Amino acid sequence: MKIAISGAAGLVGKEFARHFSNEHQVLALKHSDLDITDAQAVSRLIFDERPALIINCAVLGVDACELETALAWSVNVAGAENLAKAAAEINAEVLHLSTNYVFDGKRKGDSFYTVEDAPNPINVYGQTKLAGERAVRAASRRSFIIRTSWIFGIGKKNFFSTAHRSLKAARQVRAITDVWASSTYVRDLVLRVAEILPRRHYSTYHVVNDGLCSYYDFALEAARILKFSDAEVMQLIEPVKSSATRQNAQRPRYTPIRCIVSDELGFSALRDWREALAEYIHSDCTLNE
Ligand SMILES: NC(=O)c1ccc[n+]([C@@H]2O[C@H](COP(=O)([O-])OP(=O)(O)OC[C@H]3O[C@@H](n4cnc5c(N)ncnc54)[C@H](OP(=O)(O)O)[C@@H]3O)[C@@H](O)[C@H]2O)c1
Repeated sequence: MKIAISGAAGLVGKEFARHFSNEHQVLALKHSDLDITDAQAVSRLIFDERPALIINCAVLGVDACELETALAWSVNVAGAENLAKAAAEINAEVLHLSTNYVFDGKRKGDSFYTVEDAPNPINVYGQTKLAGERAVRAASRRSFIIRTSWIFGIGKKNFFSTAHRSLKAARQVRAITDVWASSTYVRDLVLRVAEILPRRHYSTYHVVNDGLCSYYDFALEAARILKFSDAEVMQLIEPVKSSATRQNAQRPRYTPIRCIVSDELGFSALRDWREALAEYIHSDCTLNE
């Protein structure tokens, strides 16, 4: 089958392209190949290429959205809608990535958000991602919405992908102690999506590794996997409150997610994030040796 992937140079897009290239014809579309905000370009490309599936990985990130609100709506909502409309016109399926940041994180206790919980985003990124989900659903009856969270994998300079590298290089890591969510190994995300697709059950999924953590828990686990001593941990990982950090966008405090749709379809939960992190660190360290 022919699969078009937008935002294919990003963390998730690259992994989808790598995975599906083994068995499918993949059009890995980087930003310079296709700007999803250009409705005519999207429509032309989709009509010419006629993919059976479009995977939208293009996004404007959390802090950038706060700085460039108009662009955020253009990429995360109008761009997603352009792809979904073009997909509908050729009767292709569309898979759109979304986020735990559609929730406000104000819930107390140790429960997980499911698709039955009402979204209430607290930053521009979350607002645009929620509006993007709705636009995709409205444009295409054959759409999968995949909400995921705190992704780590090779090729991205975010906290979760690089904490272990900083520790290995003896660089100090500032880690927030009072914001919690699910985290996700990009390989596990893509493998689960590959299981979801053939079921043709068009719905909203939450795809994350099992368990939850704060940034601080995540850094501690990376240090444990690297076999750091308590003294090294004390020296290298600085616990900080979110109020002491400078980020453009406010993050929701507590947004672990769980997938009741996957439960209904008989999928077991993905492995615990600690196991996935150990595999990621091992493969990243092996690559760099
Ligand atoms: N990373 C996470 O922790 C996380 C968590 C939850 C959900 N998600 C979701 O997962 C999806 C993929 O995220 P990611 O982490 O892979 O993002 P990423 O690494 O930032 O990649 C996004 C890609 O989109 C491209 N892009 C931006 N504007 C575009 C446009 N107008 N047209 C075409 N391409 C454009 C970017 O290219 P340029 O850099 O050249 O602009 C970049 O290559 C997103 O839907 C995101 O909301 C991610």
